[in-house]
Amino acid sequence: MKVAVLGAAGGIGQALSLLLKTQLPAGSELALYDVAPVVPGVAVDLSHIPTAVKVTGHGKDDLGVALTDANIVLIPAGVPRKPGMDRSDLFNTNASIVKALVEGVAEHCPEACLGIITNPVNTTVAIAAETLKAKGVYDKNKLFGVTTLDVIRAETFVAELKDVDPANIHVPVIGGHSGTTILPLLSQVEGVSFSEDEVSKLTTRIQNAGTEVVEAKAGGGSATLSMGQAAARFCLSLTAAMQGENVVEYTYVQTDDSEDASFFAHPVRLGPNGVEEILPYGDLSEFEQKAKEDMLEGLRGDIKLGVDFVNG
Ligand SMILES: NC(=O)c1ccc[n+]([C@@H]2O[C@H](COP(=O)([O-])OP(=O)(O)OC[C@H]3O[C@@H](n4cnc5c(N)ncnc54)[C@H](O)[C@@H]3O)[C@@H](O)[C@H]2O)c1
Repeated sequence: MKVAVLGAAGGIGQALSLLLKTQLPAGSELALYDVAPVVPGVAVDLSHIPTAVKVTGHGKDDLGVALTDANIVLIPAGVPRKPGMDRSDLFNTNASIVKALVEGVAEHCPEACLGIITNPVNTTVAIAAETLKAKGVYDKNKLFGVTTLDVIRAETFVAELKDVDPANIHVPVIGGHSGTTILPLLSQVEGVSFSEDEVSKLTTRIQNAGTEVVEAKAGGGSATLSMGQAAARFCLSLTAAMQGENVVEYTYVQTDDSEDASFFAHPVRLGPNGVEEILPYGDLSEFEQKAKEDMLEGLRGDIKLGVDFVNG
């Protein structure tokens, strides 16, 4: 198994690479790519950890080597938010970065599964899809928006509120990955119940959790450590699924479901070739149904922005 991390010298990239170095199956290879000159040093640093995962570092002219033979590519390259910024404010810078890197994926490892972390995810995943289509190598089963952070945040906040072990809490989160497009399905959480007031406050907290971190870091960036953990969980699930295990993760994928949006986070059964099956997200409460209806137009607009960015 070869995993390439593009943007590996950044806050997310380093945390994610550390977790993958210690948790990928023995015999795996981890290729770190970044335009920042520190990236070979990050690779040397990680290579001193005694696990049977080979780490290589690749600078800006070395994208092809980093990507060749990759089975999974994770992209956290790009700028993060500062206080007062919405994820959509990152579009101008990050859209071009994602497009250029995905062109590299199309050229060097078109068969790889691709996880997009760079914000705004609602839009950058559509950019990746259109870029791969333009190169004639798009497989909708191999493209994922990594929304696992919304799931782990939701699980943490529910466990905190109900004073239970977070390991026993599972919270479905569907939709997109910004503001109200993030839709936690608290009505489906097993083992706990919520008052109407709790549902409303928890939903808002989960939707704004990224901003909690951005404000607390006071200009120093957005979530990196929790995001590293979330992306590692997603990558390790995908790795396990590619090796034959039965794994379900919530992730933002192409759905072909005209009733929602063309990309929408669902529970997805992963397999050797990426998406094995997009599972239904089940019944929604009245509150969740209204929240979904209210956010769909915005999500569809975010997706269209990505499609138009590539196709003009
Ligand atoms: N999906 C999520 O849930 C989620 C959560 C948090 C942050 N993010 C997003 O992840 C991205 C990265 O965040 P961060 O905190 O790690 O930022 P960061 O600034 O710490 O790191 C970004 C890295 O990308 C590199 N980079 C920039 N352009 C590049 C290019 N063309 N090729 C390769 N590398 C390039 C930079 O050199 C830097 O090392 C941001 O867009 C942020 O909004 C997503």
